[in-house]
Amino acid sequence: MKPYNIAVIAGDGIGPEVINEGINVLNTISTINPDVQFDFTHFPWGCEFYSRHGKMMDEDGIEQLSAFDSIYLGAVGFPGVPDHISLWDLLLIIRKSFDQYVNIRPVTLIKGAHCPLSDVQREEVDMLFIRENSEGEYSGAGDWLFKGKENEVVLQNSVFSRKGTERIIRYAYETAKKQGKTLTSISKANALNYSMVFWDQVFEEVGKEYPEVQTASYLVDAAAMLMIKDPKRFEVVVTSNLFGDILTDLGAALAGGIGLAAGANINPEREYPSMFEPIHGSAPDIAGQGKANPLASIWSASQMLDFFGYEQYGKMVLEAIEQLLVEGTVLTPDMGGTATTSEVGKRVNELLVSIA
Ligand code: NAI
Ligand code: MG
Repeated sequence: MKPYNIAVIAGDGIGPEVINEGINVLNTISTINPDVQFDFTHFPWGCEFYSRHGKMMDEDGIEQLSAFDSIYLGAVGFPGVPDHISLWDLLLIIRKSFDQYVNIRPVTLIKGAHCPLSDVQREEVDMLFIRENSEGEYSGAGDWLFKGKENEVVLQNSVFSRKGTERIIRYAYETAKKQGKTLTSISKANALNYSMVFWDQVFEEVGKEYPEVQTASYLVDAAAMLMIKDPKRFEVVVTSNLFGDILTDLGAALAGGIGLAAGANINPEREYPSMFEPIHGSAPDIAGQGKANPLASIWSASQMLDFFGYEQYGKMVLEAIEQLLVEGTVLTPDMGGTATTSEVGKRVNELLVSIA
């Protein structure tokens, strides 16, 4: 069979270290099933590239990437390059150009993962966040008037289009229906009297097409509290770009920490490549020391396998991560261990082979 063509943007800091381990895992899947092959093409884009060329990626970068089946991204950002540049000129450009309007972030407390809540059963933390990923509060619309003057004014506008709002909410209903789960919408219509009133209205409208899906709707502040106090309420969750960004970091903290949290940026129509990444950043504080936890990046590789239709292998990778955590002997320092990034990666691969 034809190999999947994967564009690899390892990026900055710990990005290359963790991506390397994810690639090893995908290659292990190829040894388990030789019909599933991957061809990796590396792009040297990111902040180091910026410091040499004055740009985060090639001018025709989007064109170059468009031919790939998916993009596997480490992290971008490094001291010296302002974060809004590294974010907007690479990550957000890719998400927007490829209409990756769905951001999927699992918040699942797998066996062996640490949860800071003392009175919670493992199965009670099992959420799937579906975050709007193309507009909303991160539309980049606004203005900066009278810069530096006394009457300085800054406008940062949110954009909620009917098309954009409907499609993310419909995607969430479809997911909840397929998985036989409840669907919770998180918004803030009491304070955001246009955007979130509209969001709630669309959530109700689209819901009429899915009478079988049980729903709930919370204000974002209450939702943040309930995620801690009663996480089992949340199964499939749909929310806006900003709220999803914040709540999924909270979710990451509930489900094993930043070293485990993965995210997929999906173009559901498959017109363009989708992008898979750990949600953590480039962690300059530990870069180059072999301390980075590769599990988030490996989990995002398992999301890629799911997306290609190989759910059995995606599940197998998660099982290997779970077994590693339960063993508890080969862990990086953020999880209380002393192992290096590559030792953890190697152990995941061994477990994967033994599971297969
Ligand atoms: P960060 O996620 O890089 O680091 C936060 C803390 O978590 C640090 O103490 C770091 O050592 C630790 N950490 C993160 N990932 C880890 C891993 N895999 N294993 C062990 N420890 C890990 O977030 P921070 O410090 O806010 O940002 C650093 C840079 O990364 C900035 O330039 C920021 O813009 C960028 N960034 C990029 C993202 C992306 O490319 N998707 C996402 C978030 C931040
Ligand atoms: Mg974030």
